[in-house]
Amino acid sequence: MSEPTIEVLIDANTLQARIAELATQIRKDYDGKPLVLVGVLKGSFLFLADLCKHLDNNVIIDFLQTSSYHGGRSTTGVVQIRKDVDVNIEGVDVLLVEDIVDTGTTLSHLIDLLGTRKPASLKIASLLSKPEARRVEVPVEYLGFEIENVFVVGYGLDDAEKYRQLPYIGVVKDS
Ligand code: PRP
Repeated sequence: MSEPTIEVLIDANTLQARIAELATQIRKDYDGKPLVLVGVLKGSFLFLADLCKHLDNNVIIDFLQTSSYHGGRSTTGVVQIRKDVDVNIEGVDVLLVEDIVDTGTTLSHLIDLLGTRKPASLKIASLLSKPEARRVEVPVEYLGFEIENVFVVGYGLDDAEKYRQLPYIGVVKDS
């Protein structure tokens, strides 16, 4: 079978420009206060990397890892925590950094989980959102782009672990 083609949905320059805007807003809102950025692996690794380069020394970087798609194209609805955060988040501002909010299942689970640890605040930054796919409402304070309900890859997002390295967001066109 020939390699599927990837159609560009959001190009690299557009992504980077929007990420810089989000970072400006985050800097303004937190105004030098300690802030723990928690990247939700694996999909968020490039977004978090590019976002944090625009931020200041008040920021601490941590990660957790969830999985609910298990390599498929639709959520199993069961969110597994594969890796928890390392830092104590009690009393500090936390910003969860996601690549995409699809059904909302992952973030809703994470808000409940991290909320029990009593952070001073818990907000969400997501590069992408698919409002049409939502099953659970989650508040996204810093959103990059709303997209249609299509399966996207690239810039951290995968199809069976492929395409995460692409510098843009694309749509797989199966041949
Ligand atoms: C994807 C994505 C989000 C979540 C969004 O993660 O990175 O974390 O699904 O979907 P939802 O809103 O329907 O919960 P996945 O479980 O595929 O793991 P990955 O980031 O390692 O690819």
